This record gives sequence, structure tokens and C-alpha cells, in this order.
Amino acid sequence: MKKNKPRILVIHGPNLNLLGKRETSLYGSTTFAKLNQLLKKEAEKLKLSLQTFQSNSEGQIVNKINSSLGKIDLIIINPAAYTHTSVAIRDALLAVEIPSIEVHISNIFKREEFRKQSLISDVAIGIISGLGIHSYILALEAARKVLTK
Ligand code: DQA
Repeated sequence: MKKNKPRILVIHGPNLNLLGKRETSLYGSTTFAKLNQLLKKEAEKLKLSLQTFQSNSEGQIVNKINSSLGKIDLIIINPAAYTHTSVAIRDALLAVEIPSIEVHISNIFKREEFRKQSLISDVAIGIISGLGIHSYILALEAARKVLTK
């Protein structure tokens, strides 16, 4: 019998749509479209079913998490600026009880004080921060491990 692939949702928070143009010394020159292409390729290799979602709006991210209930096995999330402010995204992850991995392109602990606090980290399985877009690839590999152990 064919086994169903683990279902992964990658959520990109605000301004990540501007990757490749935005503060390239911090976030690199890979465009947002290219990043999603790379993720798709990597997910195929890892035999994961992948959906990606980007929004600049907190409410839309909360809605997306809510509607993932029963449809998604693991969420990889870069909440971007909402990392440091959003009780709503934190509560949504707790509400649906879908395991999550928090990802950041930059090392949030090496930057301004306000970025050192994440409202998401302690509700996620783990956090990958500071490895550029490779942070996402590592999160996909970790997701595969978590879901097939
Ligand atoms: C970020 C770090 C956040 O502090 C920032 O607001 C972002 C991107 C990162 O991926 O490094 O938008 O999440």
C-alpha cells in the first residue's frame, strides 16, 4: 500500500515577499520566488508534500493556521516581525496542536534587543536561526525526521 506523504506547510510572515530586494546584507539575494522553488525541490527529494503561504497580515496567518487543522502534519514558520509581538500566532499554534518549527534567515540573537525575544520559540519543537535560507532547508530535513520516527 502506498503511504501518504507527510504534509508540511511553510508560512512566511510579513515582508518576506520582498526577499532578494530587502536588506540583502541581512537576508541575502535569493528572491522569494526562488526560495519557494528551492523548498519545493527539497520537499520532493525528502518525499514531503509541501504547501507554502505568505502574508503581511497577522489575521491571515492566524486564519491559515486555524484552517490547517486536520490537513497539515507540521508547520514551518518564519513569523518575521510577528515573532516578537504576536500572541495571536502563538495562540493559534497552541490551539491547533500542530507541531511547528520556527525559522529565521538572520540570527535573531545577534541583532537588536527587541528581536531576541520570540513569542513562538517555546511553543515550537525547535528553532533554526541565522543560517540564511538554509535555515528553511534544515527545517524541512528536521520535519522529515520528526514525522517519520
Ligand atoms: C526574520 C527576523 C525578524 O526579526 C524580522 O522581523 C524579519 C525576518 C528572519 O528571518 O531573520 O522580518 O524573521
